[in-house]
Amino acid sequence: MSQTAASPAPHTTQAPPAVTAEDLTKVYGSGGSEVRALDGVSVAFARGAFTAIMGPSGSGKSTLMHCLAGLDTATSGSVHLGRTDITRLRDRQLTLLRRDRIGFVFQSFNLLPMLTAEQNILLPAQIARRRVDRERFDRIVDVVGLRPRLSHLPSKLSGGQQQRVAVARALLHAPEVVYADEPTGNLDSRSGAEVLAFLRDSARDLRQTVVMVTHDPVAASYADRVVFLRDGRLVDDIADPTAESVLDRLVKLES
Ligand SMILES: Nc1ncnc2c1ncn2[C@@H]1O[C@H](COP(=O)(O)OP(=O)(O)OP(=O)(O)O)[C@@H](O)[C@H]1O
Ligand SMILES: [Mg+2]
Repeated sequence: MSQTAASPAPHTTQAPPAVTAEDLTKVYGSGGSEVRALDGVSVAFARGAFTAIMGPSGSGKSTLMHCLAGLDTATSGSVHLGRTDITRLRDRQLTLLRRDRIGFVFQSFNLLPMLTAEQNILLPAQIARRRVDRERFDRIVDVVGLRPRLSHLPSKLSGGQQQRVAVARALLHAPEVVYADEPTGNLDSRSGAEVLAFLRDSARDLRQTVVMVTHDPVAASYADRVVFLRDGRLVDDIADPTAESVLDRLVKLES
């Protein structure tokens, strides 16, 4: 059927989602040893939303995040960061895109031990020769509650405080999306809660888009939305999750 005059043009001026994956497939190996880690995943992440990716072990969570973040190349399909198709970029462009437009938080905090909390937060900006927005720095430091700890070395901080430094570092340049892979995997539950509350507040208060891989239903319950993978396919998608509703879906997926 043809479009009516009232329907929007295919390319409207409306801002696209922060990240969009279309029919993403990732095949490892070939022939008999072929593993289809992602099998036609299409998903979009809205700006300012905090989304968790869950699923059984081997379901493709890390592969999906790595393809979304331009750390790995998909076999087919596309990934857009805003309007940029990252699957078409050359290595050098991809390196700059990861540096300038994406933030990363890993399970291990990856702080430099000889630098203070403040110096660690500022380091990527220094390396990239970016001007630091002092107002944003102050706001982030206050949201993470790190003000009294700025002059401390990582060894003088708790695990939760170190991870908050890592999150502040990832947020400083206002990346279009922050990817967090099991950010609370190395933390006790209290420190984990601090970091998760901070990720949630950064989405709410700073309109920061956050995508987090986690195994933990309690961690996922901090998100606005949870998407579930099984065997490389997106099989469920829930809004306003609670630890109970997430656990319920997971149990069904694993059975
Ligand atoms: N480099 C690789 N070479 C071959 N197969 C791989 C590779 N990386 C992942 N896989 C396979 O792809 C599938 C998805 O792996 P992935 O690491 O994305 O799962 P996951 O959901 O992150 O699992 P986990 O919860 O255990 O971290 C698995 O079957 C895995 O064995
Ligand atoms: Mg994984």
